[in-house]
Amino acid sequence: MSAARTGASTGTSTDGGRASTGATVWFTGLSGAGKSTVAGQLAAILAERGERVFMLDGDDLRDGLNADLGFAPEDRAENVRRVGEVALLFARASHLTLVTVISPYARGRDAVRARHAAHQVPFVEVHVATPLEVCEGRDPKGLYRRARAGEIERFTGISDPYEAPAAPEVVLATEGRAPRESALEVLEVLEVLEAGILVPRRAGS
Ligand SMILES: Nc1ncnc2c1ncn2[C@@H]1O[C@H](COP(=O)(O)OP(=O)(O)OP(=O)(O)O)[C@@H](O)[C@H]1O
Ligand SMILES: [Mg+2]
Repeated sequence: MSAARTGASTGTSTDGGRASTGATVWFTGLSGAGKSTVAGQLAAILAERGERVFMLDGDDLRDGLNADLGFAPEDRAENVRRVGEVALLFARASHLTLVTVISPYARGRDAVRARHAAHQVPFVEVHVATPLEVCEGRDPKGLYRRARAGEIERFTGISDPYEAPAAPEVVLATEGRAPRESALEVLEVLEVLEAGILVPRRAGS
């Protein structure tokens, strides 16, 4: 069904045409869970397939568009709202938009999903469900160490809550897996979703 819909709307054959519509693939999870790493791998795979991909990283937006926001609950909510609106714009412009942002509160993520639904733009929530102990062990940015030392207030998982999604389209366990394996798990889901996001590739193509 997804192949048929995608093939019809792009006019391409079903052996590897471009995605019919844009979509937002929203990676949520703790700092260090692997959101950026997995999304980066997925972006590379999709780009190689000729898809129009855009990566939208929370850190990059905090550097500019959201530079006025901090980490209080209302600021986090506004951060997620803005990231969601930018993602929606790119997705509506036919990009597969890979968003990587902790987005710790369910309400904010659900609001972004609702905005996408209102525009009939597919929204795929990927919970990068790496446990806190593992994230803290990785600590790629040294943030957990600083949070434990009391140098960072309201750090998600330590001194601010993370609300896991209740019904995400994908749950990734990254422990003991290579990032590329996790990226391929997401790719598979994009190929089978009824929303018809990606045309499945025939083996060997
Ligand atoms: N299977 C895996 N998938 C993703 N990352 C992995 C995996 N195994 C180990 N890692 C490592 O875990 C770390 C994940 O860091 P990354 O910056 O991607 O996290 P993040 O979720 O984007 O965090 P932040 O919210 O702080 O940006 C990297 O150092 C990466 O190499
Ligand atoms: Mg990241």
